[in-house]
Amino acid sequence: MKNFLNISDFSNEECIKIISSAIDKKNNKRQSSDAQNKTLAMIFEKNSTRTRISFELAIKQLGGLSIMLDKDQLHLGKRETLADTAQTLSQYADIIMMRSNSHQTLENLAKYSGVPIINGLSDLSHPCQTLATLMTIIELKGSLEGVNISWFGPISNVAHSLIEAANNDLGFTLTLHCPQYYQDIYSQKLSDMNKKICFDNISLNELDFKKVEATDVMYTDTWFSMGDIEDSTKIEMLAKYSIDQNMMSIAKKDSIFLHCLPANRSQEVSAQVIDGEQSYVWQEAQNRLHVQKELLLHLLG
Ligand code: CP
Ligand code: NVA
Repeated sequence: MKNFLNISDFSNEECIKIISSAIDKKNNKRQSSDAQNKTLAMIFEKNSTRTRISFELAIKQLGGLSIMLDKDQLHLGKRETLADTAQTLSQYADIIMMRSNSHQTLENLAKYSGVPIINGLSDLSHPCQTLATLMTIIELKGSLEGVNISWFGPISNVAHSLIEAANNDLGFTLTLHCPQYYQDIYSQKLSDMNKKICFDNISLNELDFKKVEATDVMYTDTWFSMGDIEDSTKIEMLAKYSIDQNMMSIAKKDSIFLHCLPANRSQEVSAQVIDGEQSYVWQEAQNRLHVQKELLLHLLG
């Protein structure tokens, strides 16, 4: 039984198989019903638009059904331990997707669950987002081979999963343009969580225009993740990392803009860019559905 808590849970062959299959079925409008009568339980500790809707539709289109569970309506961690909830849910559901405040909760859930667990976003990582993002890049650039991706801003959960994908030798190169302050926060977080990340294939630097010039994919995330408190000093520190028309004009002529969404048009990206011709954020959002159908099939075996 496999879980998908991080990109590193999958080999690069598994990632490519899931993405290729999603592209193939999307292009050929082929629909699998291989999850007939399978039940997906979804637990959310944080809000969601795309993850919730795309997983709900994914299992439905595969012939199964979903049960949406709000953490406040479960006994989870209050009248019942996580271990007991995990074992109970495993009696009813064939697979569980959870969006959790703490990655540790997901690891504990996986430890006690009798069915596969999918990470629908944690404070550490967002692997489902990475699959959809890489799928979008392959659709637009033909492959990941030799593609230069530039990330701008804090190393969020979305960036962490992208870093893991870069370490999975998927063919692209990754440059993280990130203030030293946020680089230090990320190192501290990894050390607190006892996680090690290899930076051999990755450039980690403050804003480097030479590297922006060679960029095919400009990628960013909200500067303040769910639960973070907005702070004017941080906004000031990050201002030059914002992807506006000027930043886009430095990158390659045929570069594309991606964003996991939700976006803040007055911070990490300008309206002109996200709503402009080089932006493929809606295709990226739609691909969550396609790639998660293949992910569900892969984990359900
Ligand atoms: N990108 C993403 O996961 O969006 P939601 O928070 O809306 O699910
Ligand atoms: N880093 C963001 C991603 C949202 C999809 C957050 O955690 O809020």
